[in-house]
Amino acid sequence: MDEKLVILDYGSQYTHLIARRVREQKVYSEVHPPEIAMGNITDMDSVKGIVLSGGPMSVYDENAATVPDWVFRSGLPVLGICYGMQAIVHQLGGKVEPGDLKEYGLANLSIGMATETILAQIPTASSVWMSHGDKVVELPSGFRTLASTDNTEYCVVSSENNNVYGIQFHPEVHHTAYGATFLNNFLVGICGFSQTWDSGRFIESSMENLRDQLGSSKVVCALSGGVDSAVTAALLHHAVGDQLKCIFVNNGLLRLDEENEVREIFKDTLDVEINYLDAATRFVDKLTGIVDPEMKRKTIGYEFIKCFEEETDKLGGIEFLAQGTLYPDVIESVSTVGKAAVIKTHHNVGGLPENMQLKLVEPLRYLFKDEVRKVGLELGLPSKIVDRQPFPGPGLAIRIIGEVTQDKLDILKLCDRIVTDELAKSECYEEIWQGFAVLTDSHTVGVMGDFRTYGYVCALRIVSSEDAMTANWVKVPYEVLETISSRIVNEVSGVNRVVYDITNKPPGTIEWE
Ligand code: XMP
Repeated sequence: MDEKLVILDYGSQYTHLIARRVREQKVYSEVHPPEIAMGNITDMDSVKGIVLSGGPMSVYDENAATVPDWVFRSGLPVLGICYGMQAIVHQLGGKVEPGDLKEYGLANLSIGMATETILAQIPTASSVWMSHGDKVVELPSGFRTLASTDNTEYCVVSSENNNVYGIQFHPEVHHTAYGATFLNNFLVGICGFSQTWDSGRFIESSMENLRDQLGSSKVVCALSGGVDSAVTAALLHHAVGDQLKCIFVNNGLLRLDEENEVREIFKDTLDVEINYLDAATRFVDKLTGIVDPEMKRKTIGYEFIKCFEEETDKLGGIEFLAQGTLYPDVIESVSTVGKAAVIKTHHNVGGLPENMQLKLVEPLRYLFKDEVRKVGLELGLPSKIVDRQPFPGPGLAIRIIGEVTQDKLDILKLCDRIVTDELAKSECYEEIWQGFAVLTDSHTVGVMGDFRTYGYVCALRIVSSEDAMTANWVKVPYEVLETISSRIVNEVSGVNRVVYDITNKPPGTIEWE
């Protein structure tokens, strides 16, 4: 990577948004925990700026995260956002006052006579989004204030000589009217980024890195049918050719007929030989009697690793394991300071058993889903794969509430196919991030013809999202819902009622388990 931004994550819910907004400015960024040593940042020479995120702590908390010394010593431009700014001020000799009242929501930022680069193209009055308790009441020497709100005198501060900046509001959320301009001023005006990062650039540098990292070693990649593993495999295939070996384990928890579709697409587009293992019965057997969602995930994860180990052993001489880990997985899993609790185990991160002794390659580790899709298309994967909706590793098992049985799997696969087909035909398809059926463990009474029925309730979950961290239920036209409902009840024996889930994330999650 020729140039990059380092974001130190102090635990804000918005850190991923900072990374996203930075990418939107065509600047490559990496998020690291604040305690990272400078020596552990690869290609430190290419770092052109550092952003310190917000966070839930107070600088007065016992274990409050600090700004590492190397950040100030590096001489690189530094931008502290919210907590990041307070930590800078506190450490450099200014004063932060614990706030009893939290300031949350929109505020009016007014810029006096200041003309500094960080304020370029920003009107003298604009709306900014605040979310803080503590506030800065005295600046360290060498700092001056550039803009204020009614409630916050030190809202934009700088020590221009040292290239250190602080802003109390959040430029990364859309409510801040000129948020993108603030970020652009910092990235381009102050750090001097050339804004050349895009998927083509990413592919070029990934190829180089992968060749360096792998040398002549063999690497194995588990295909799941999903976009991430497909793009990972495609990248590796382009970089190291047949040093790449692919394994596809059919765990029986895939969508209807998916195992065959995926194999065909791979055969047609990437000339990669796939080692296929049909382990459907094996997984369903292991899931017998298990009701708890986390237990299901663990059982599936464990069984998958066993299958994978067996297949890898058969291949022999493998040194590397490629995983399609994406950036949101990394942010959600590598929780550091005061991070949101782990809500669900995502077994695609950190699921490698230590005794396998394979080294990890994660070429998509810093990409968001939409970026992965762009890379996939550029590598020649068909939109049938690239535009696939995300599908969880534990598959339909976490969409069957209660025990997983072959009967329930067969029922859910049919419901799911109807949902998928009808949504694909509907006008709202573009809006949908994930749309699927869930088989609840409730039964209700119904009537069909002259007969009383007692069947499962099937729930529809159809959401829009940017990166799965938040999601909204989609206002699917009633006619589409009606068609889905009547098709499911009429065509799928065992289901006699369909309901629609109208819960956003948060407070809900996308999957039901
Ligand atoms: P939730 O349900 O946490 O889902 O809102 C967020 C995204 O993650 C997917 N998901 C998983 N993916 N293993 C996976 O590989 C899992 O255990 C898992 N649980 C949820 C989900 O489909 C959504 O895209």
